[in-house]
Amino acid sequence: MKMRPEPLLLLTVLLCAAGKPQSKARNKLLLISFDGFRWDYDQDVDTPNLDLLLKYGVKAKYITPPMLTMTSPSHFTTITGRWVEDHEVVHNMMFDAKTNLKIPHKTTLRRSEWWDNGVKPLWITAQNQGLKTASFHFPGGGANYSGQAVHRSVLEGSDHPDDNETEWRQNIDTVLSWLSKEDFNLVTLYYGEPDNVGHAKGPDHPDRKKIVQQIDRTIGYLKDAVARHHLTDSLNVIITSDHGMTTVKKRPQVDELILNKYLNLLEAASFEILDYGGFGILTPRPGREQEVFDALSKAPNLTVYKKNEIPESFHLAKSERLPPIVIVADLGFNLNSVSRSTLHLTFVSHQRFIVYVNKGDHGYHNGEMDMKTIFWAYGPDFKKNFLSDPFDSIHIYPLMCELLQIEPAPHNGSLTATENLLLSRGEDQSRKSKASAESAFRSDTSAANHSAAADHLSENQPNKPEEAVSRSGGRYLLPVSESPCFTLKR
Ligand SMILES: *[C@@H]1O[C@H](CO)[C@@H](O)[C@H](O)[C@H]1NC(C)=O
Ligand SMILES: *[C@@H]1O[C@H](CO)[C@@H](O)[C@H](O)[C@H]1NC(C)=O
Ligand SMILES: *[C@@H]1O[C@H](CO)[C@@H](O)[C@H](O)[C@H]1NC(C)=O
Ligand SMILES: *[C@@H]1O[C@H](CO)[C@@H](O)[C@H](O)[C@H]1NC(C)=O
Ligand SMILES: *[C@@H]1O[C@H](CO)[C@@H](O)[C@H](O)[C@H]1NC(C)=O
Ligand SMILES: [Zn+2]
Repeated sequence: MKMRPEPLLLLTVLLCAAGKPQSKARNKLLLISFDGFRWDYDQDVDTPNLDLLLKYGVKAKYITPPMLTMTSPSHFTTITGRWVEDHEVVHNMMFDAKTNLKIPHKTTLRRSEWWDNGVKPLWITAQNQGLKTASFHFPGGGANYSGQAVHRSVLEGSDHPDDNETEWRQNIDTVLSWLSKEDFNLVTLYYGEPDNVGHAKGPDHPDRKKIVQQIDRTIGYLKDAVARHHLTDSLNVIITSDHGMTTVKKRPQVDELILNKYLNLLEAASFEILDYGGFGILTPRPGREQEVFDALSKAPNLTVYKKNEIPESFHLAKSERLPPIVIVADLGFNLNSVSRSTLHLTFVSHQRFIVYVNKGDHGYHNGEMDMKTIFWAYGPDFKKNFLSDPFDSIHIYPLMCELLQIEPAPHNGSLTATENLLLSRGEDQSRKSKASAESAFRSDTSAANHSAAADHLSENQPNKPEEAVSRSGGRYLLPVSESPCFTLKR
């Protein structure tokens, strides 16, 4: 006798299959970075919209950036999941120690040869698996990788203002329309604040609180805009940053670090990038490595490393680009190459004056709390009201691959560190709880009322820091021919 499928059994099997967690629909991802947002910037100022993010999503108490707490190195670790020694973006400035070439940060953003070192960032890996990706001002998004460009990339102009709130909102609508109307799967969006204000005024200045409130209003705008673009059910949003900020210690409170006091820099080094906050690099002239190391070891308030003796936990030593000597200043100390009082007499690199004016800076040890930064996320794949323990920013990469349902490229992160932020597979919220969460979300959002934001918009003329120096490393490089005496204004 032939076995016939039992109708009842068949039905049961079908029903069970339907009820099983199916492979979930692939949601889209918006990654937003607010440069230099220290982990605790939301704790001494009213931020109703950021507070809501935790209620309807997840927040990490803080996250730890990679060693080299600097904009391009850290952003590239986030988007590649690789340590700095592997991706080799070892500075904001493109440099060549052999030729003494140094290129400013914003120009470097357009130079593929600085970024393209064999490690593929998430955009490229996602594109190679059929996804559509875009970058808006995000560091690394403007380069080609083995000849491959990000599908759509908007690069920041060199004189782009960092704090124009109207433009911030336009940029949100731009990227959301890419996601909703043009079906992009992954978009990265970058804002240059609060880094700029943190450098120019210092993290304790009232203007830092003002810019954090501007960011908070922007988050409120974002949440409404996501709904307006009908992306509530299909878009995950991650909001993070690259490093924190600390107050630069100045005279008369402390003796500033003047490296030329310990070493004749011009004589002993063939290449250096100092005067760039807490992180310095230097190439001794041939045969003088030990002498340079010994001299700098006598300087207080800093640690000097030979490259091959850099602690493994920094994940920097393997870098081919890093020069043989790396200097990390103690928190808040700036590495000055020469003394300000002798500046008018001193030519550095034979052709430039260096004037360091920052009141806040970063680049210090990533174990310092002031270097820690932020992580919030919300959307259909994230838990709600979940405060996570701290984790390293390197683990954001596997999380993003999981969200996009793509095979990650080789990386140094671990999904184990971040998967607890996600609703577990099959734990997709029931329609009922989803709907109620959404309506609660909407009413809370309006309770946090953005009208205050609207009021601010008109009066909030960009508070251009008078010494806006930010990611130039806080220094003006003035060709001598153009500057008979140096000036603090550009
Ligand atoms: C990327 O490649 C395209 C096509 O070859 C080229 O036009 C563009 O200038 C390159 N961009 C960069 C930043 O190298
Ligand atoms: C701010 O951005 C808006 C929109 O792009 C622009 O119209 C306005 O001129 C900008 N304001 C300033 C002061 O740059
Ligand atoms: C800086 O170094 C000096 C000399 O060693 C020391 O007395 C001082 O306490 C240090 N300052 C800080 C803030 O660590
Ligand atoms: C980081 O990941 C790369 C690629 O898998 C690997 O070659 C490298 O050894 C890793 N680094 C560390 C410190 O584990
Ligand atoms: C929010 O602001 C709008 C516009 O100013 C106002 O009309 C509305 O009453 C406010 N809503 C709440 C709940 O405060
Ligand atoms: Zn930065």
